[in-house]
Amino acid sequence: MFIGIDLGTSGIKVLLVDGNQQEVASHTESLTVQRPHLGWSEQDPEAWWKATCRALDSLKEQAPEALSEVQGIGLSGQQHGAVLLGENGKILRPCILWNDTRSEKECKIFEKRFPQSREVTGNLAMPGFTAPKLIWVENHEPDIFKETQHVLLPKAWLRYKMTGEMLEDMSDASGSLWLDVAHRKWSLEALKATHLSEDNMPKLCEGTEPAGTLKDEFVQRWGFKKAPIFAGSAGDNAAGAVGLGATHPGDAFISLGTSGVIWITTEEFRAKHEAAIHSFCHAIPQTWNQMGVTLSAASSFAWWSRVTGLKEKELLDELPEKPVSPSHIFFAPYLSGERTPYNDGDIRGAFVGLSHDTTRAEMTQAVLEGVAFSFRDGLEALRASGSIIEEANVIGGGSKSPFWVSVLASILGIKLYGLAHGEHGGAFGAARLARIAVTKEDVEKVCTYPERISMTEPDIELQKQYEKLYKSYRKIYPALHSLHL
Ligand code: XUL
Repeated sequence: MFIGIDLGTSGIKVLLVDGNQQEVASHTESLTVQRPHLGWSEQDPEAWWKATCRALDSLKEQAPEALSEVQGIGLSGQQHGAVLLGENGKILRPCILWNDTRSEKECKIFEKRFPQSREVTGNLAMPGFTAPKLIWVENHEPDIFKETQHVLLPKAWLRYKMTGEMLEDMSDASGSLWLDVAHRKWSLEALKATHLSEDNMPKLCEGTEPAGTLKDEFVQRWGFKKAPIFAGSAGDNAAGAVGLGATHPGDAFISLGTSGVIWITTEEFRAKHEAAIHSFCHAIPQTWNQMGVTLSAASSFAWWSRVTGLKEKELLDELPEKPVSPSHIFFAPYLSGERTPYNDGDIRGAFVGLSHDTTRAEMTQAVLEGVAFSFRDGLEALRASGSIIEEANVIGGGSKSPFWVSVLASILGIKLYGLAHGEHGGAFGAARLARIAVTKEDVEKVCTYPERISMTEPDIELQKQYEKLYKSYRKIYPALHSLHL
């Protein structure tokens, strides 16, 4: 038996799987995000911990016998967040999250202090990443910076809480801007540029390695026969990739979650920071990946649902089963800035082309199309870097809408696959990593592909129309940018 814990932004999911990789029990606890100022996005790590405890309590209630047999625990975590710890692991302030855009200026400071940053870290300095957040803290909360002894990413903090050990895996560490991604080690120059050193960092490990053992008090609490071993684990996108078996070069998938990710596994480190492509280590040793990230994907739709006061399902019910023609308006999904291809934390979203005839249904369709156009930006950026994606699995909350997947296929011009009901998300990938860490089985044997149950091809007619509209969509960003909103 293995447990996967996915520390997401909107919730924590805990999943128990058996030796045949079948789900035995699972539980999700919701989380809230605090936005005390424009562009800020924070969470209290203690809220993660309480939610994790409640979720594990629920597993104990659902399947106490199976739970007692657990050998390993894997973690999948929202990336980039900065948990600052002082003496004795004291939490110094709320975690600054991946979609917080306050440190736009600090990105420039970071690259000025460390001119080789793009080559070494493989990435542009983006406000979502961890290092610029620390420069922001130093400049705006100097007392907290002085007190900071350790900086942990969200899931590394959860591991610390559960095992007492400070360890970070390569895939998640890649999103900090402190990692030398090609050589899989901390970059001392990058750390120096934020006035930190290796002493402030957790030790590094691979996602598939054993990395800590559950503390005794929790072994008692949840009734494990033997203290489970933690896997090095992974950032949520790499964990999702492991869950999907996307461990071979060329494997691609699209995640229509809170954020939108278009992922491709690569056999070597490809630093293609043009157009804000992310080049990270995979959770599998000697494997890397590239991804395009759109900051507000399913969260754009969630925003639209809040604004209209209707549930997402009610909004989708106002649309036809399949898209018949493009909407007449555009939506730019830059609700909290954008990463790929613009790396612009200050840009904000817009509806363009409204008229007296515009209906709510059309605006809903425009929101779904706008997110799909931003994925197209990611696809084009990857293409320009030499990573060609011709088909991809689609996962995440948004993948449950056939309408949205259909729009996406026609806007991207590639085949998209829906997967058999069952587990293949971050929590499942984390459980797979736990299994590999404990049993030392082959990655290939454990990380099989899930069954595909549907294929959505681009609709030729729609694709042509969207192709033209994409050219217009591309003009919206420069126009919005010039407004300095
Ligand atoms: C990836 C990113 C997001 C978060 C979401 O770079 O910022 O996908 O990991 O949890």
